[in-house]
Amino acid sequence: MTPSHDVVLVGGGGAGLRAAIAIGETNPRLRVAVVSKVYPMRSHTVSAEGGAAAVIRPDDSLDEHAYDTISGGDWLCDQDAVEAFVKESPEEMLRLEHWGCPWSREPDGRIAVRPFGGMKRMRTWFAADKTGFHMLHTLFQTSLKYTSVQRYDEWFVTKLLVADGRVQGVVAIELMSGKIETIAAKAVILCTGGCGRVFPFTTNANIKNGDGMALAYQAGAPLKDMEFVQYHPTGLPFTGILITEAARSEGGYLINKDGYRYLQDYNLGKPEPKPVFRSMELGPRDRLSQAFIKEHEKGRTIETPYGAVVHLDLRHLGEKLINAKIPFVRELCLKYQNIDPVRELIPVRPVVHYMMGGVHTDINGATPLAGLYAAGEVACVSMNGANRLGSNSLPELLVFGARAGRAAAEFASRQPEFNPAILAQAEDERRRLERAFLQNTGGRERIVTIRDEMQKTMEESAGIYRSGDSLMRAVEKLRELQNRFRSVALDDHSRTYNTELTSAVELGFMLDVAESIVHSALRREESRGAHQRTDFPARDDQRYLTHSLAYRNLDGSCRIEYVPVTITRWPPAERVYGK
Ligand code: FUM
Repeated sequence: MTPSHDVVLVGGGGAGLRAAIAIGETNPRLRVAVVSKVYPMRSHTVSAEGGAAAVIRPDDSLDEHAYDTISGGDWLCDQDAVEAFVKESPEEMLRLEHWGCPWSREPDGRIAVRPFGGMKRMRTWFAADKTGFHMLHTLFQTSLKYTSVQRYDEWFVTKLLVADGRVQGVVAIELMSGKIETIAAKAVILCTGGCGRVFPFTTNANIKNGDGMALAYQAGAPLKDMEFVQYHPTGLPFTGILITEAARSEGGYLINKDGYRYLQDYNLGKPEPKPVFRSMELGPRDRLSQAFIKEHEKGRTIETPYGAVVHLDLRHLGEKLINAKIPFVRELCLKYQNIDPVRELIPVRPVVHYMMGGVHTDINGATPLAGLYAAGEVACVSMNGANRLGSNSLPELLVFGARAGRAAAEFASRQPEFNPAILAQAEDERRRLERAFLQNTGGRERIVTIRDEMQKTMEESAGIYRSGDSLMRAVEKLRELQNRFRSVALDDHSRTYNTELTSAVELGFMLDVAESIVHSALRREESRGAHQRTDFPARDDQRYLTHSLAYRNLDGSCRIEYVPVTITRWPPAERVYGK
């Protein structure tokens, strides 16, 4: 018998678990499935470090949080989404506290907050520098209260099933047995995170391959603002492991090969002994990553076997503060770089961290495809615009995970049982997977070769700076890789934990997502936030105060359309930092 649920959640990280809880709170009778390719506590939320932003102090206000977010996003944020976000994030964060999240506290017992990049008030809550771990733990243990939630741990979704114009289920592989199964649903919520692995050097775990983005895109839903790829300014060379912005908010300096705090040369303010809001090391991520490239062009970075780096200097903070506030930074440096930041400089370089774009949703997580919802990094509710501020994504997954859960619950309550037509589609998908990957196809292409070429293409053509020429080259290369992917051959045709099969499906997803990025970037002839075109260096509000929507045509090609940005109270203005 086909397993059937009211709501199927794809992804068991922060957004997925918050959505599952919201459905349980809304209607405990609804049967919920959490289908995740990894055990939920291994979802990428676990690796979030620095903190989660929400107004809590009397000297702060919702409007200031909104303004920082909108200006940080270079005016591409939908301001209704931002207003909902800043209002609901303190409520969500307190709720998490009541569910047991051990937020760090001031000596007087108040919630501790730290400054974060691009923000002009202290509003980033944290649990030392393991914030994601504690949030995910809290959500996971809370989700266990809801007996209506059934988990499919280590099940990998390969396709959405659409009939009568609405999503009615998924096809998933049970990784332990290799069984290919249909799971019917009245609504599906995608919570699969981002797609950093499309690039070679990223803070993202190996599981972040744009699965949910590709599932939606292949089913006909558009991907929004995919050209906006966030580089975090401080990743460890070689591994790409994140060195949290909290290290700079606690007072760390970025210095070049001459020991000079180079950010003062890039309109980000003047060096001060203590961090200053929206200045220098607390500037926004897009500007800091761009400054690194300029510094490199001036020959003032340091060459290493893993590329050019600058240094993050924490030595003046002292061992006591480092151990108390950013112990994980020290642990990561010791384990993965063999250096102790108490005494040594940390080599860092910009690294792909986050996608501002994602599956196009409204303010409740609904996509244009009926029955399909998305929340968290996989989604683009348009609250991050062209550049996300650090520490906005954790509360985002709470606020919009909960909203998507409630909306999907309401939608599912009104739907009939599934249309059996989806079973034939599922059978086609099963045959496709068997034929392409589990039988001997005689193909000659290797997964790893195509993946390496894709990642190299993305870094060279769609990195921190892009141009029409570089993006055209990427368009052509990705088409070639899509063709070659049809002849990919697997050595492993076994069923149990066939990681080669998983990698092949993930590569197919990544190629589609990569195409949506380069086409969106090619069409946007301006520079805004994280999308910097060397051939169009200025922001152009006349033509591009719009969101791009990437659609997949039936022949697999990509089509770009535009919808306007929602402005409520903050008309476009210049972004000013360092003052
Ligand atoms: O640096 C960090 O801790 C990252 C935070 C974020 O991306 O929100």
